[in-house]
Amino acid sequence: MSDREDLSELVRDLRGHLSWLADNGVRELPAPPRPSAASVQAANAPASSSTRSGSLRDAVRSAVGSPSPTRAVAPPPAQAPVAVPRPAANVIPFAPRSNIVAPAQPPPASAPATPAIRRSLEEIRAEIGACQRCKLGKTRTNLVFGVGNPKAELVFVGEGPGADEDAQGIPFVGKAGQLLTKMIEAMGFSRDDVYICNVVKCRPPGNRNPEPDEIEACEPFLKAQLASLSPKVIVALGKFAAQTLLRDTTAITRLRGNWREYCGIRLMPTFHPAYLLRSPAEKAKAWEDLKLVMKVFGKEPPAKKQ
Ligand code: URA
Repeated sequence: MSDREDLSELVRDLRGHLSWLADNGVRELPAPPRPSAASVQAANAPASSSTRSGSLRDAVRSAVGSPSPTRAVAPPPAQAPVAVPRPAANVIPFAPRSNIVAPAQPPPASAPATPAIRRSLEEIRAEIGACQRCKLGKTRTNLVFGVGNPKAELVFVGEGPGADEDAQGIPFVGKAGQLLTKMIEAMGFSRDDVYICNVVKCRPPGNRNPEPDEIEACEPFLKAQLASLSPKVIVALGKFAAQTLLRDTTAITRLRGNWREYCGIRLMPTFHPAYLLRSPAEKAKAWEDLKLVMKVFGKEPPAKKQ
């Protein structure tokens, strides 16, 4: 056989081998064995006889790990290599849906160790500990975790504690809190029926807005709380709660009154009670939003006083 014919046969063999690998789902070849000195020598030897052609074929086959011509067309051996898809490093392995808290995102360094697992509120509170994950830890008096029914079907999420909340360690107990309590009661619930918490658990000094790094540090715990509660409806009070939970920078004036979804839970954005105290004319709009929430619970708005 001439060298040309010999090479053609070799190429056919290789093609057969590659197509067998492809047919069997093998996408990655194991590192080929290094050709032995003898086979390299044979491959490099001048080809002047039919036996040398055989040596060349064998040397190259041995170098690429090719099966014999009969194996290339034969069915795969019992222990054929199986391509096992390897998950990317940042892919969260499958877990039952009820345990999934939120879309997979690289958690910040301060995230809880197991953000995707549903835990009790007590466990989440214990994990927060005497938190110093952001700068608010230095200036707060009390960490304000949340209050209410751990089995609540309705959850209110505010922005962050003010001075009264910081002093007492309970959310929404100041002036805005008193208005929120009235709103909850007008909806036919009591504060004990629902659950109330905030985006950030510590008071921003001087009641300034929470900063992005503070929200980021605290958000895993809010997510964990919401996963633990798994309510029917979340009411997001104001821009920070709505924008943080929805990952949407649309103004609250446009978000409010429109049903949205947070991890499979219905979410209603509305105005923050502190804003309503400053702009009482907007209370009617907030009441419209809350009436939509009441409908989900089969509640009728109270009859208007004559
Ligand atoms: N405002 C908030 O957003 N949360 C509170 O707890 C109090 C006031």
